[in-house]
Amino acid sequence: MAYVLILSICVMAVVVCVMAAALSENVRNAVILSGSYKRAFAAHINLFSSLYNKAVRKHKEELFARMEKKFQTVQGDKLILEVGVGTGANFEFLPRGSSLIALDPNSHMEHYLVENAKRFSHFHLEKIVCGRAENMDAIPDESIDVVVCTLTLCSVEDMEAALAEIMRVLKPGGHFYFLEHVAAEAGTWRKTLQRTFDNQWKYFSDGCSCMRETLTFIENAGFSEVDYLKFFLKGFWIIGYLMRPHVVGYAVK
Ligand SMILES: C[S@@+](CC[C@H](N)C(=O)[O-])C[C@H]1O[C@@H](n2cnc3c(N)ncnc32)[C@H](O)[C@@H]1O
Repeated sequence: MAYVLILSICVMAVVVCVMAAALSENVRNAVILSGSYKRAFAAHINLFSSLYNKAVRKHKEELFARMEKKFQTVQGDKLILEVGVGTGANFEFLPRGSSLIALDPNSHMEHYLVENAKRFSHFHLEKIVCGRAENMDAIPDESIDVVVCTLTLCSVEDMEAALAEIMRVLKPGGHFYFLEHVAAEAGTWRKTLQRTFDNQWKYFSDGCSCMRETLTFIENAGFSEVDYLKFFLKGFWIIGYLMRPHVVGYAVK
C-alpha cells in the first residue's frame, strides 16, 4: 500500500515537472501572482519555517548572537528591518529589546505574522510594511541599525536593486545579516540539476530561484566588509537536494 502511494506521488511529481517545464514564463507568473497562490504560500511557509529552523538552528543562533553583540554598541532604539519577513520565522532569535519593521510583498503573511508575534515579548513589532526589497520607499535613508534577510534574496526579482535599497536604509556602520540558499559550485551535478529544474522549482516556492549567485551580488554591493560561511543544509529529502548549498553571514555598510 505504502509502495503504491509513494509510486503515485513520484509519478504525479514527474507529470507536474514536465507540465511546468512546458508552460511559458507568462503562465508561471500568472499562477504565482494569483491571490490563491499567495494565500496558500503564506500557509505553507508558516509550516515550513519551523522545520527549516530546526535544520539551521545552529547557524541562526550564531548569526543573531552576532547581531546582539552589534547592538551593544547602539545607543537608544535598536531598529531591525527584516526584508521578506514571511510569517516571522526569525522572531524567536531577535535580540531582547529590539524593534522590528517587517517588510514583505505578500499581504497574506500579515495574519500569521501578527499571531506569531503574540508568542514573544522580547522584541517589539513596530510596523508591518507591504512592499518589495527593490523599492522600500516607506523606509527613510540611513534609519535602520540592522537589516536581515533569510531565504529572501533567492526570490527578489532584481538583486542589485534590492541590495542598493538595503545600503540606502542602513545607518553608516549598520549591518546586513543574511542566510540564503544559493547556486551550487560550477561543474557539479547539483548545478546541472538546479539549471534543469529552476523553472519547476519556482512553482513550488513563490518564484524563488534555486541557482542564485547571491554571495557574488553581496560582495559587489559596496559594503566595506563581508564575512560569511558556506554550509550544506541537511535533510528535506529530494527537494532539499537543490537547495542544500547555503551561505550565512553579515556585511557592514
Ligand atoms: C521563502 S520565503 C522566506 C520567508 C522568511 N524570510 C523565512 O525565513 O521563513 C521568501 C519570502 O520573500 C518574500 N519576497 C518575495 N519577493 C520579494 C521581494 N521582491 N522583496 C521582498 N520580499 C520578497 C516572499 O513573500 C516570502 O515571504
